[in-house]
Amino acid sequence: MNDLSIGELESIIRETERIKAKPENYKNRLKDKILLMLFEKPSTRTRISFEIAMIQLGGNAIDIDESMTQLGRGETIGDSARVLSRYSDCILARVKKHETLKKLAKNSKVPVINGLSDLEHPCQVISDLFTIYEVEGGLKGVNLTYIGDGNNVCNSLLLGCAMSGINIKVVSPEGYEPGREFVEKALNISKKTGSKVEVINDPKKAAINADFIYTDVWVSMGDESEEKKRLGIFQAYQLNEEIVKLADSNCRIMHCLPAHRGLEITNGVIDGKNSIVWDQAENRLHAQKAILLRSLG
Ligand code: CP
Ligand code: NVA
Repeated sequence: MNDLSIGELESIIRETERIKAKPENYKNRLKDKILLMLFEKPSTRTRISFEIAMIQLGGNAIDIDESMTQLGRGETIGDSARVLSRYSDCILARVKKHETLKKLAKNSKVPVINGLSDLEHPCQVISDLFTIYEVEGGLKGVNLTYIGDGNNVCNSLLLGCAMSGINIKVVSPEGYEPGREFVEKALNISKKTGSKVEVINDPKKAAINADFIYTDVWVSMGDESEEKKRLGIFQAYQLNEEIVKLADSNCRIMHCLPAHRGLEITNGVIDGKNSIVWDQAENRLHAQKAILLRSLG
């Protein structure tokens, strides 16, 4: 998130609004451009929304199957980046370790987009900020609670909310709070934007003042070995009807998806009248276009 200035983030959100309103105006804006996509972890939304975005903007996307490349046989990520960036206009990567993304970016001649790492998920959060903007007509002073694991989505939300003047309250079990470095960065940014940044452990306080309540999985990709332990610890942090009842009747429910129904969120809440998760998922497509236009337009 911090590779963008506050002004750039704002302009991507405005561009997303224009793209969503009139997608036909953007046909051929990336004519003949090629996006390479490298996924070390599974993906539905990120992979398909980027691929469709490229097609609708007049370009092409090529999905690289790592096992079919020399990466699977030990060619370094740096050498691969040197070569692949001579064939393409942009690289999108979803990686197990954030370090891999840094090596890719360092050795690439073309822009590299983070399609999720263990530390951040900026494309998701840029799109989510647009979704909030769409509902509220603005971002400053909006109150968002994130309940659950202090993971990659939570880290990017902290930065994105602080940059946008959104007040963010993270509610996580002890030991599962977002990374210190992200909380500190968010607090620093908030001095400029006036946003309030809070990290607490008490799930009973999640609904207080919330305009939006956001959650994500308790077991992220890469955390599978801790599954049993985590499912026990996170039970009290489920986004369920009891929590929603305590919130304002207009409070919106968000989830980046995929959801584990019955774990971090109940069926009643994700399918309930306050849920905006399907608009949120749709907006990935519009926001991805704005990110691509900024990267290779
Ligand atoms: N929210 C999100 O990034 O979904 P995918 O893992 O399906 O890409
Ligand atoms: N935190 C989740 C997000 C999935 C889009 C994960 O990293 O698996």
